[in-house]
Amino acid sequence: MIIAPSVLSLHYDDTQQQIRELNESGAQWMHFDVMDGHFVRNLTFGPDILKAFCRISPLLKDVHLMVDDPVFFADVFMDAGADLITFHYEALQTEEQMHSLIAHIHERGKKAGISVKPATPVSVLEPFIAEADLVLIMSVEPGFGGQAFMPAALDKISAVRKMAEGKELLIEVDGGINAETGKACREAGCDVLVAGSYVFKKDIKEAVSSLV
Ligand code: DX5
Ligand code: ZN
Repeated sequence: MIIAPSVLSLHYDDTQQQIRELNESGAQWMHFDVMDGHFVRNLTFGPDILKAFCRISPLLKDVHLMVDDPVFFADVFMDAGADLITFHYEALQTEEQMHSLIAHIHERGKKAGISVKPATPVSVLEPFIAEADLVLIMSVEPGFGGQAFMPAALDKISAVRKMAEGKELLIEVDGGINAETGKACREAGCDVLVAGSYVFKKDIKEAVSSLV
């Protein structure tokens, strides 16, 4: 299981120390939530913050774009050091735009993911399964950390696993992950667990080990 702690829940008065602990925790990815105040009613980080994290952490930078204009911001965050860019299905209007964004991310040598909010059925992802590297299932309404896991995400994980049979596709789940919900996601066929408050509200290393 790949663990992707979400730096949305970092305590920003003690960033350096927590990143040091994170680097040694066994987590392989760092999940970086970008929110623009429009796609979701919250604002988070710009590219300079990602650049700083790249300097102090070797973890893979997993950038989750919760923005109205993922086509513009994909380049901004790839320039800043993103290894993987995940955009929302709901943010673009046509399948053609989504295919071309995935192709563009690949042309730049990065991995591409596509995400759905809780209300969007995973059947809409079928046309992208062959080319995307990752599908991100939201198990909370995007926008804020600390919300409760929505169990309907488990069926979505299983459905995507089935859809992707015989293909190399990572399934990531984001929102309300702790040891218990993480275990349920693993059993449903998930590969990557995003966890924010669960990791940063207690001992980072202990929390990560309980999810692996
Ligand atoms: C929500 C974000 C999540 C969030 C998860 O919009 O995408 O990554 O940080 O936080 P927890 O683990 O606290 O639910
Ligand atoms: Zn996220």
